[in-house]
Amino acid sequence: MKRMEIFGTLKKDMDAVERSLYACIESESASLGEAAMHLLKAGGKRLRPAFVLLGGKFGTYELERLQKVAVPLELIHMASLVHDDVIDNAQTRRGQLTVKAKWDNRIAMYTGDYIYAKALEMVAGLEDPRIHRILAKAMVEMSIGEMEQIRDFFNTGQSIRRYLLRIRRKTALLIAVSCQLGALAAGASVEVARELYNYGYNVGMAFQIRDDLLDLCGTEKQIGKPPGSDIRQGNITIPVLYALQEENLRDSLLSEIGRIHEANGRTEVRAAVSMITGSPGVARAEELADRYTQKALAALDRLPDIRARRHLRDIALFVSRRTY
Ligand code: IPE
Ligand code: IPE
Ligand code: MG
Ligand code: MG
Ligand code: MG
Repeated sequence: MKRMEIFGTLKKDMDAVERSLYACIESESASLGEAAMHLLKAGGKRLRPAFVLLGGKFGTYELERLQKVAVPLELIHMASLVHDDVIDNAQTRRGQLTVKAKWDNRIAMYTGDYIYAKALEMVAGLEDPRIHRILAKAMVEMSIGEMEQIRDFFNTGQSIRRYLLRIRRKTALLIAVSCQLGALAAGASVEVARELYNYGYNVGMAFQIRDDLLDLCGTEKQIGKPPGSDIRQGNITIPVLYALQEENLRDSLLSEIGRIHEANGRTEVRAAVSMITGSPGVARAEELADRYTQKALAALDRLPDIRARRHLRDIALFVSRRTY
């Protein structure tokens, strides 16, 4: 599924969101805007604003109002990526140099803050404290998730539950609130917004599990960065945790991860990656992602049968099998 197909009938409105994103980033001092613009221009799937607009279809759809949620959601996502690349010490994103690599960590700090501030500025145009509260909460959770991940770098003894809680915080909740806030901003009922939240939460979990699989199984061309970046950085994801449950693999994988840890990530990770991708951990992680996708589809079944519902179904299916 290409970007155009993800958007389907939303294409025109997503173009408006895109223009608004550019206007938002462009408007400030050149030196601050430059790094943010670099990331914006590098592209991205723009999934979160698409979820906002689709959520809005369940209420009174007014593009101008919905944009005030859709654009901030993409901005918050972008800001988190700029900071995430500092934490993950990532050199490339979306096939381009990361802000931290093209400039440095200090510039990345303020670029992230600047993009967050732009998000707040736009959402302030909506006089609905519920929306502000929900967004703020999602941002707090995301920060906790990213911090927990730092604490758990190279922790091969962590539980599956801990991993799931972390990806819930760092990824799934922002996608959940994208769907929910679209509905709320369009005046849909709280019940409809809650079901959309459930859908988004489950799609978000599948999305991050897929992201973690792609980091191991994808090609550099597909994922816009070298495969194995997570394990190099010590980020122990679900395919790794499952692979570690394999008796015949456990010791050799542990020693390989220990070696990467000792080398501070400045070493070859190919052996570890091929141990994991050759293990049943991949299929088990795919099955888990599929289970979340099924839950997302079940949440949709409880929503009114409008065109947007079919569109959300297609996106859920795309996410669970995405290759980029
Ligand atoms: C990347 O998100 C970060 C995660 C939450 C996994 P996306 O895969 O949506 O990133 P872009 O916006 O398309 O680059
Ligand atoms: C998601 O995790 C990042 C955020 C929620 C900010 P990743 O670290 O896996 O995202 P990528 O792979 O760098 O895009
Ligand atoms: Mg990360
Ligand atoms: Mg990262
Ligand atoms: Mg990743």
